[in-house]
Amino acid sequence: MNKKQVYILAIESSCDDTSAAVLEDRKVLSNVISTQEMHKQYGGVVPELASRSHQKNILPVVDSALQASGVPKSRLSAIACTKGPGLPGSLIVGNAFAKSLSLALGIPLIDVHHMHAHILAHFIENTPETPEFPFLCLTISGGHTQLVLVRNYLDMEIVGTTLDDAAGEAFDKIAKMLGLEYPGGPMIDKLARDGDPNAFTFPKPEVPELNFSFSGLKTSVLYFLNDRKKENAHFVEENLNDLCASVQSTIVSVLMHKLEKAIEHYDIRDVALAGGVSANSVVRSALKTRAAEKGWRTYIPPIEYCTDNAAMIGIAGYYKYLKVLYADLSSRPESRLAF
Ligand code: KG4
Ligand code: ZN
Repeated sequence: MNKKQVYILAIESSCDDTSAAVLEDRKVLSNVISTQEMHKQYGGVVPELASRSHQKNILPVVDSALQASGVPKSRLSAIACTKGPGLPGSLIVGNAFAKSLSLALGIPLIDVHHMHAHILAHFIENTPETPEFPFLCLTISGGHTQLVLVRNYLDMEIVGTTLDDAAGEAFDKIAKMLGLEYPGGPMIDKLARDGDPNAFTFPKPEVPELNFSFSGLKTSVLYFLNDRKKENAHFVEENLNDLCASVQSTIVSVLMHKLEKAIEHYDIRDVALAGGVSANSVVRSALKTRAAEKGWRTYIPPIEYCTDNAAMIGIAGYYKYLKVLYADLSSRPESRLAF
């Protein structure tokens, strides 16, 4: 007899994307994402506007995820949602919605760590290949930069982290200085294609062990631009592509240096990327080049599972479901949830 299938409805609302997905075991049946565009005009996410927008979006987003999956609510095995980390008001919307629905349907609630979910996105059935345990994952997003030793689905340890800004934050803040729209990471990636990565040299931080720091780079770019603009008011416009390429190459080389150090230290061959910045074309190609030289096996999820999405919450929920790790209804979201 076939094993009974598990159907999970997952909800992600930690930042500015409202997303819902339905999974049948490890397979994604639907993954609906509603991105909040209104933050662009403010140059960053405005938390109060984000939570209000989640409130408006959550019902239609969940409804379309259910419809697209073809799974009736009565067949759902559990509801998974993001417990944290994230913006408090945004997390509350997803959490309260998931809790109410689990109570109404009489099925378990599973709360998920957003950063675990970014890593577990590698195990979605629709992804090309899955890493073997233990592996190292470099999770690079707008809020986090972490090197994680992944021993099993539910056994992970941070071995390096940023002491200040995250890699995505560095992309976004520097992009803002260059007059680019939020989120600036994808724009820097695009403009850098026509630029020279060696045009300008920015300092790389000396941070002990496997940790990172990006706030010094941000400050040095700011001072550099201010100095150059005193001589030429059009400096940024005239050098935009070279500036993007040089900043991007500095960030990527810092990331690759620490990744290489971690791989040597832990003597591991399987290396994975996760989080929104893994969509960056130079991060991807730098990883492939190093991997070919060093004999690493590399894994990068499809872009739709790198940036925030509910399918990753669903797969993380699935592994917790198999271990009966349910949340009770007193569970609350935590904006600074420990790893
Ligand atoms: O994982 P994610 O979607 O959300 C968080 O959990 O933070 O990551 C968003 C971050 C933003 O900082 C965005 O600028 C960055 O990922 N990002 C990129 C690219 N695509 C997204 N950064 C550089 N190059 C890209 N192509
Ligand atoms: Zn994220």
